[in-house]
Amino acid sequence: MGSESTETAAATGAFPIVRHRRLRRTDAIRRLVREVVVRPSQLVLPMFAVAGEGIRQPVDALPGIARLSPDLMVEEARAAYEAGVGGVLLFGVTDQKDAVATSAHADDGVVQQAVHALKAGVPDLVVITDVCLCAYTDHGHCGLLGADGEVDNDPSLDVIARTAVSHARAGADVVAPSDMMDGRVGAIRTALDSSGNEGTAIMSYSAKYASAFYGPFREAAESAPGHGDRRGYQMDPPNIREALREVRADVAEGADMVMVKPAATYLDVVHAVRGATDLPVAAYHVSGEYSMIKAAAERGWLDERQAMMETLTAIVRAGADIVITYAAIDAAKWMKEDAS
Ligand code: PBG
Repeated sequence: MGSESTETAAATGAFPIVRHRRLRRTDAIRRLVREVVVRPSQLVLPMFAVAGEGIRQPVDALPGIARLSPDLMVEEARAAYEAGVGGVLLFGVTDQKDAVATSAHADDGVVQQAVHALKAGVPDLVVITDVCLCAYTDHGHCGLLGADGEVDNDPSLDVIARTAVSHARAGADVVAPSDMMDGRVGAIRTALDSSGNEGTAIMSYSAKYASAFYGPFREAAESAPGHGDRRGYQMDPPNIREALREVRADVAEGADMVMVKPAATYLDVVHAVRGATDLPVAAYHVSGEYSMIKAAAERGWLDERQAMMETLTAIVRAGADIVITYAAIDAAKWMKEDAS
């Protein structure tokens, strides 16, 4: 019978009974069946803190981003909060550098001061601090150097843990270690708990790759290594099983959230990590990934808004709960426009 063959055609998804374009016909229908929508509250804005007052130093390689003194950082953070952005991720920039990163854990360090100002000025914004030594060492590496000039894992842990404690004491909600030393999550958890900061969460940069896409950031943070590169501690880009081992280790050591970085060029890793843990997964849309879109848009080669939103949506579709992006404020505003 005719109806039988019709059912068969529908059941097997065959044309012309089945037409996928019916659900793409109007904007209203497309919205109705949309599978992934990014929320502003999932976004985290990275910010660069410098000492002083009234200081705004735009970063050439990161259009729209400036190094800010605490007073101006509070204004920018308020704009982010009002746009609905969920949190900020703080980096410190300083010329007070030595071999053992003393200024990383100073109570009056740049990040510590910025955290104080932010928690006083915009208390409901989540303040996350990047915990790393590279911006505070005169050699620019993320840990301490041994006699052979290599980054020495175990002695670095104490300095990293002290840095995390100083951020927590300043009021950080979350500390985010990005140095890729082995055992740092456990060392930080122990140090936080024994200093009365058991409520401070750890977002671990679990799978952080030695990526070419960090270039613009190193200009912003003045944190490029003086010699060599970071391949001895950051992950080798071709590896994905290793990312899962890193995630499992960080979970076992007490991480509250895990991160994959970069994001847009590592969507397979984001997806695999999503499947490997029940913890919130963050993905860092890094400086190079952001600046490529900005640069192409400046030349008129890409539509900035569409390219940025497509990228952020892809990161969430791959499995990220949290997206760290320099485009957070613009993206949050665009999302509100789209929702209305
Ligand atoms: C510090 C750190 C880096 C980034 C975040 N934390 C640079 C690096 O590892 O060299 C990169 C962020 C970005 O590119 O947006 N270790």
